[in-house]
Amino acid sequence: MEKYNDLHEKAVEKEKYLEEKTVIRIGTATCGISAGALDVKAAFEKELSANSIDAVVDEVGCIGHCYAEPLVMISRPGFPSLCYGNVDEGLVERLVKDYLLDDDPCYEYALAAVDPNDIFPTFDDFPRGVIEHKIILEQCGFIAPDNIDQYISKNGYSALAKALDMSPEQVLEEVKESNLRGRGGAGFPAGTKWEAATRNKENIRYVICNGDEGDPGAFMDRSILESDPHQVIEGLIICAYAVSATKGYFYIRAEYPLAIRRVRHALEQAREKGLLGENILGSKFSFDIEVFQGSGAFVCGESSALVESMEGKTGIPQARPPRLAESGFHGKPTVLNNVKTLAYVPHIISKGAEWFKNTGTPGSPGTAIFSLVGKVENSGLVEVPMGTTLRELIFEVGGGVPNEKSFKAVQIGGPSGGCLPESKLDIPIDFDSLSEAGAIMGSGGLVVLDEDDCMVSIARYFLQFTQEESCGKCTFCRLGTKHMLDILTDICEGRGDKESLQVLQDLSEDVKAGSLCNLGATAPNPVLTTLRYFRHEYDIHIEEKRCPSLFCPELIVYYIEPKKCSKLCNVCVGSCPTEAIYTRDDGLKAIEQEKCVKCDNCLKTCPPDYHAVIKLSPPEELSKKEAG
Ligand SMILES: Cc1cc2nc3c(=O)[nH]c(=O)nc-3n(C[C@H](O)[C@H](O)[C@H](O)COP(=O)(O)O)c2cc1C
Ligand code: SF4
Ligand code: SF4
Repeated sequence: MEKYNDLHEKAVEKEKYLEEKTVIRIGTATCGISAGALDVKAAFEKELSANSIDAVVDEVGCIGHCYAEPLVMISRPGFPSLCYGNVDEGLVERLVKDYLLDDDPCYEYALAAVDPNDIFPTFDDFPRGVIEHKIILEQCGFIAPDNIDQYISKNGYSALAKALDMSPEQVLEEVKESNLRGRGGAGFPAGTKWEAATRNKENIRYVICNGDEGDPGAFMDRSILESDPHQVIEGLIICAYAVSATKGYFYIRAEYPLAIRRVRHALEQAREKGLLGENILGSKFSFDIEVFQGSGAFVCGESSALVESMEGKTGIPQARPPRLAESGFHGKPTVLNNVKTLAYVPHIISKGAEWFKNTGTPGSPGTAIFSLVGKVENSGLVEVPMGTTLRELIFEVGGGVPNEKSFKAVQIGGPSGGCLPESKLDIPIDFDSLSEAGAIMGSGGLVVLDEDDCMVSIARYFLQFTQEESCGKCTFCRLGTKHMLDILTDICEGRGDKESLQVLQDLSEDVKAGSLCNLGATAPNPVLTTLRYFRHEYDIHIEEKRCPSLFCPELIVYYIEPKKCSKLCNVCVGSCPTEAIYTRDDGLKAIEQEKCVKCDNCLKTCPPDYHAVIKLSPPEELSKKEAG
């Protein structure tokens, strides 16, 4: 503890100067960078230097409000710290001139204040803030991931110091007692898994952090690694101590270069401070961590496939038992945990198992992290107590469905999750309730769907993903999903028949039962849940050859209503990539159906005053319309 106290004091001292300075924090996780955060940073640096302003510009991670990227937080002594959203070079100029030079904080551009104050509402005053409860996202976006002193000054690594003063058994007991369940999908209790690894008396043991995150639309793990890598590193070191491992790995997909760079840098810094390597913090415990880059196959996130790929073999799942805890990497006992699971560990050690269990539900303590995407007003990364309902999550935290459209479904749990309708929105989010409803918690991908989404197409989309990602080892996974996909394609394209729905149902059960790993065993979930909750959409596609959501390209046509068209505006003509829209002799516009590729451009660009472009389904509706 003494060594840690020394590190902590030095870090606090080093970071103290920030309190007296203007600090501009720019969110540069991948979401921020893709929205232009690096240009914003360059613009601040240019403006500050042109105006000879002494301020610190820091790159931080993501605070989760991804819908408003690029995000900038300005902390200036004497003013409340304010967060600005959708910042561009113009706003930078304004903030520097009006705020930093003329003391006007430009409240009209501020999203929220960071800390309570008498002037401006904070994030906690938003309906989202009232529900959100941040444990592992708390420092994301507030500390610089490349600066270990910022982490340490906020008590980072104190849990490790505390753990090293405990026996490995006591640490293990605390994690077991907390009932921390794995956040990588299955919700298996972390303490039980760790304990299993200690039963094998081998003297070499490994711990691995699973940062593969292959679910389409999911970015929780990436964001945490990019925003607060030390939190996960600290969790992995504590895990290693509890199970007496000497070597650890981060398995991160190569498509996450920023996460890889930041984790590698954080590991170097931890090593320099004596938090990794020989005799950590002066204790008898020695341990080090390396980063292993995965090649990006979804199936490599599965535990046994991940280990195979780390051993240089093809990443294909293996039959179990033995489980990794008994015989994992190079045949040695291995603990594999998800990024989020490990991120909770320092908090549990610092504040205790009882504190952790005070949040969430008895069966699923703690919080749940979601990447909230799709048809939702405020997309981003959110952390809510387990037990929060889906309705609260989508409508209060996410701000509901935009553009006055109606909510249709939520797809939860990634490609192997399920689609739940409005009637299921009041179920609490936890591992057990979701699985009862036919969905799964998965790793936290959550896609909101509105009235324009076709549920048959959605099932098809997710099944196509898993079908393409199947390693091919099991016949049912390889061929069964292919057959299911063909049936769904037929239905979406107007060739479906009633009997095929029974085949779809039967195949789903067979694929579930006959697959070795959870990729196959859960692949039918989107199909089964859409059949259970949205059966009428399948029926309409089959019986009427019509897509009720006007989505499936083969079952719709675009039509320009002569009565509504302005004749003169011509916008749709310019927007059509295939020149399918022509001007009739009377000046009105019309669509040459053979040339139309259903890109939706004309519908999107026709000015709202006219709203002349509509979709018709089934395509036969067109002749009725044309006949007047
Ligand atoms: C096809 C497939 C892909 C998976 N991908 C991931 C992943 O990207 N990240 C992850 O943590 N777990 C993934 N898992 C779950 C892991 O196999 C394993 O259960 C998890 O990493 C254990 O960590 P946890 O107990 O902390 O959740 C996947 C499982 C399957 C079947
Ligand atoms: S279920 Fe699918 S992905 Fe899993 S081992 Fe079998 S073929 Fe491979
Ligand atoms: S954009 Fe709309 S109003 Fe304008 S010409 Fe095309 S259909 Fe008519």
